[in-house]
Amino acid sequence: MKISVSASSGVEAVVKRELSRLVGKEDLAAINGRITFDGSEEDIAKCNLYLRSANRVGIILGEFKAENFDDIFDGVKSVDFENYLSRRAKIDVTAKCVQSKIYAISATQSVAKKAICERLKERGYGDLKEDGERYRIEISVHKDYATVTLDTSGEGLHRRGYRGLVGEAPLKETLAAAMIELSVWKSERTLCDAFCGSGTIPIEACMIAKNIPAGINRKFDFEEWNPRYKSIIERLRERAKDEIDYKKEVKICGFDIDEKQLSLARKHAAIAGVEKYIHFQRADVKDFSSSDRYGVMICNPPYGERLSERHEIEKIYRDYGKAFSALKDWSAYTLTPVTDFERLFGRKADKKRKLYNGKIECCYYAMLGAPPKKT
Ligand SMILES: C[S@@+](CC[C@H](N)C(=O)[O-])C[C@H]1O[C@@H](n2cnc3c(N)ncnc32)[C@H](O)[C@@H]1O
Repeated sequence: MKISVSASSGVEAVVKRELSRLVGKEDLAAINGRITFDGSEEDIAKCNLYLRSANRVGIILGEFKAENFDDIFDGVKSVDFENYLSRRAKIDVTAKCVQSKIYAISATQSVAKKAICERLKERGYGDLKEDGERYRIEISVHKDYATVTLDTSGEGLHRRGYRGLVGEAPLKETLAAAMIELSVWKSERTLCDAFCGSGTIPIEACMIAKNIPAGINRKFDFEEWNPRYKSIIERLRERAKDEIDYKKEVKICGFDIDEKQLSLARKHAAIAGVEKYIHFQRADVKDFSSSDRYGVMICNPPYGERLSERHEIEKIYRDYGKAFSALKDWSAYTLTPVTDFERLFGRKADKKRKLYNGKIECCYYAMLGAPPKKT
């Protein structure tokens, strides 16, 4: 099976690294935001359950040249959907057209859906009632080349199941996990988020430290498709639960000026099963201090969408930089779209990387402290 793992712009290298560790594949290439490899049903289950920074996991069912709607119809109709879809399949078709002669998304969707239905009818499915399990099929046309992908995840993988309640400008869980993976943090070091909001970064860090799989608290579309898939994922879930290291010592803290945000963070941590291990506290960043050494700050401070907030934001960034400068041997990782962040913070970044927080282009600034001495 050709498996496709999608990743947001800037995060592909992190997902590749995660994938190499998980399924033991080297030399993976990311093309147009997806990483593909030949894998098994077990790999699909593992990727859904364990990948922390990926968006979705799919099976590539077909690829063909597509310069017009006849090509889409014929190409989609040639895919062996009967080997994947049940008779009660509820089929959701999505489409994406980039730099191609075909650009009409909804027309692409309806032509593809018609082709799927005709194919299944000819294979004895009769009139589809579509009252069963969901199958999301994506037709992606890029430079006149179409790829048909069956999504196995369902809800995007950022939906871990612990965040029902939405805070102020929360980070996607997948991006928070990528920010942690891109940092020098190891579970032996203190991790703090001085602007923790709904708690995403501390919760993701705690799940990483305690070896709690990202998808342990949720379901995936593919497990509803047949008993074989269900038994694979259930076996993996049971094994993963045994491998969780609740005894692992961690020092993870989240601070925020807003008590309402903190109460959300505590609720989310409780749903994720990690509330006992994270210290959440109300604090203004200007008062942040720690006697720990070699700590790692990972955060996304407010950035202020309105011009009127600019003054306030500048003050917060200056306070943040000042508080940080008093910490001994700490490293700070900050995601923000504020272009003069380094000037406000009072220090040049050692490393920078472009990342997207939703549609907002941001820079991920790394200010590095000395590494802990080897004992
Ligand atoms: C962009 S949000 C962080 C979102 C968070 N990463 C999440 O996933 O929910 C910025 C947070 O900074 C907090 N904040 C604003 N000013 C602050 C200050 N002076 N000190 C500490 N926190 C502050 C806000 O209350 C808000 O929750």
